[in-house]
Amino acid sequence: MIRRTAVIATLALSCSSASAPSKPCVAGGDGRYVDAPYPSLDAYCMASIRDGEITYQEGVVPYDLNTALYSDGAVKRRAVFLPKGTTAQWSDNEVFDFPVGTVLLKSFGFRTDLRDPNSKINWVETRVVLRAPEGWFAYPYVWDTTGTRATYAPGGRQPRVNWTDASGAPQTLDYLVPSETECKQCHSSNAQIIPIGPKARNLNRMFTYPDGTSDNQLAHWSKAGIVSGAPADPTTVAKLAVWDDPSGPIADRARAYLEVNCAHCHSAGGTASTSGLFLWASESDPLRYGVCKEPLSAGPGAGTLTWDVVPGLPDQSIVVYRMASTAPGVSMPQIGRGTVHTAAVQLVRDWITGLAKGPCNP
Ligand code: HEC
Ligand code: HEC
Repeated sequence: MIRRTAVIATLALSCSSASAPSKPCVAGGDGRYVDAPYPSLDAYCMASIRDGEITYQEGVVPYDLNTALYSDGAVKRRAVFLPKGTTAQWSDNEVFDFPVGTVLLKSFGFRTDLRDPNSKINWVETRVVLRAPEGWFAYPYVWDTTGTRATYAPGGRQPRVNWTDASGAPQTLDYLVPSETECKQCHSSNAQIIPIGPKARNLNRMFTYPDGTSDNQLAHWSKAGIVSGAPADPTTVAKLAVWDDPSGPIADRARAYLEVNCAHCHSAGGTASTSGLFLWASESDPLRYGVCKEPLSAGPGAGTLTWDVVPGLPDQSIVVYRMASTAPGVSMPQIGRGTVHTAAVQLVRDWITGLAKGPCNP
């Protein structure tokens, strides 16, 4: 991939920005992003910040997931762009097979006051995963403090973010924008970069589009030609549980959380495949999803504990111990998280508490 060592050398001319606010542009820019990343996000002509919200150009379709990755409480916005006349192929279980030229965007921001759901969001980064002829590439872009321009930042960044928490206390975090190398730790299967989220089960939910209409995302994608080969009524396919919907069964919610937050590494082909811990929600072998499983890798990660999951005993379970830690060498995931996701730790504890006894139970 020698040709990708440099960004496209041209200036970002094609899209609206602070310096050229009214210059029209067409989503996809000049299309050369399949050769190398643009130096700044506006050259894609897909997303900008207007009135404090990520706003998409025509042809860029926002989407949301039933259960998402936790990133220190960041607010996220996601969208997909396919070149005109192209379509993705439906898959029942895997990420849809997107055509060359596809761009997936994910923006991260922090709400300034958690007591006010309408308070300003400080947008920090927009991540890009795009499909070139030779495969997928993942690129970080970091917003300037005014939200005017996002610049390609292959080395990542560590901006300080401040907000007021639900109790009114001021909070500060040195938030870590991953480097391009770090993207690959999560976005990879057999050492090839891959997208993670856009699977039928995680997209199967309602969404309110910018024009105000609401539709099931799979139905919408199918009608709009974003995906072809979908079942006649795609809304009937299995849904991944919404991890924080209290009306759902705890086991489904916990397994959905572990799938989206862990399985991209903890799967065959993922960067934690050698751990032997496989966290897809569909994994049916209790030993493979950790029940009475001894960790393969020795080290500080296990603390004084012996098994990944001990039914009925969350405090004896390495999975809980590692999710509740931020210490290097212990924390899971080991990148992309600098704070403990307390609500998710509680959910996994509740799941383990309710599990039927296994061979490691006294
Ligand atoms: C800790 C693991 C992790 C790291 C590190 C990571 N991602 Fe992701 N990313 C995910 C997961 C899981 C999803 C799907 C769930 C979601 O969107 O919340 C995702 C979703 C995305 C999406 C939306 C399309 C998709 O694949 O679902 C983009 C774009 C993206 N990531 C880009 C990047 C880039 C660029 C980097 C590096 C700067 C990066 N990611 C680093 C785990 C990670
Ligand atoms: C970025 C990739 C990545 C992500 C995401 C990730 N892990 Fe890991 N995990 C690893 C690697 C690599 C190892 C092996 C080295 C070690 O134990 O630290 C591991 C090991 C483990 C172990 C020891 C397992 C064994 O049997 O050997 C547990 C438990 C674990 N992870 C839990 C989790 C949980 C729970 C999540 C999600 C909340 C998660 N991990 C997310 C990479 C990841």
